[in-house]
Amino acid sequence: MKIQGSVALVTGANRGLGAAFARALLAAGAAKVYAAARAPSTVAEPGVVPVRLDVTCPDQIEALARELGDVSLLVNNAGIGGASPVLALASIDLLQQQIETNAVGPLRMTQAFAPIMAASSNSAVINVISALSWATLPGVTSSYSASKAAAWALSNAMRQELKAQGTEVLSLHVAFMDTDMARGVPGDKTSPDEVARLAITALEAGQPELLADEVTRSVHAGLTAVPPMYLGMLG
Ligand SMILES: NC(=O)c1ccc[n+]([C@@H]2O[C@H](COP(=O)([O-])OP(=O)(O)OC[C@H]3O[C@@H](n4cnc5c(N)ncnc54)[C@H](OP(=O)(O)O)[C@@H]3O)[C@@H](O)[C@H]2O)c1
Repeated sequence: MKIQGSVALVTGANRGLGAAFARALLAAGAAKVYAAARAPSTVAEPGVVPVRLDVTCPDQIEALARELGDVSLLVNNAGIGGASPVLALASIDLLQQQIETNAVGPLRMTQAFAPIMAASSNSAVINVISALSWATLPGVTSSYSASKAAAWALSNAMRQELKAQGTEVLSLHVAFMDTDMARGVPGDKTSPDEVARLAITALEAGQPELLADEVTRSVHAGLTAVPPMYLGMLG
């Protein structure tokens, strides 16, 4: 997909990677960037069009799709983290919230905007997933990893089904980024601005999937290692 002249809608665009996507898309020549946020007053990026959206509210999604008839690029970025040891009772509530936000949200958004993107000869969806769709950090990411594994499977299904209408789908897998979500995580983190730029380059090159950093590439390679990395992480 070509970004020049496109009209983008970025969810969770008030901070973190979403704000970085909004900046990078404008810099790459997008004609318009709708910056969706639960509280649009918190959108600070110059040049974007703030819109209200909670991705867990079907009514808001439907209303936005009626309002924004020119969207050609949907960036499903909004997401929530949170630690969840698998045996903690609270993990079930967190799993339900994360599935609703991280997997069902992007699915509802894609269902609502697919007919709009079908009208464009240059359209795409970017799904922000995670290296943790393929691995679980013991005692920490059971439910988050489950929600991102669901998002990965849905992203692959979207690519298969949207092909018929010419809409491309890019799955973006990334490890830790320097945003609020990973604030408590020690060690090196990737800049969200760099990740957004890499994703735009990958989209313009027609790639179906981006493994945005070395950690993500190593986790991905670990799927076919002997023994596979996900078994090692459980032990
Ligand atoms: N940070 C990392 O290390 C990392 C690594 C891999 C993948 N990711 C993924 O990258 C994406 C962006 O995360 P981030 O690092 O930028 O995190 P962040 O700084 O915590 O930002 C999360 C964004 O999602 C929004 N959001 C959360 N729930 C929402 C909802 N129900 N409706 C609409 N917006 C909602 C937040 O809005 P509010 O301001 O209203 O809360 C915020 O704008 C997420 O999908 C995350 O899972 C992050």
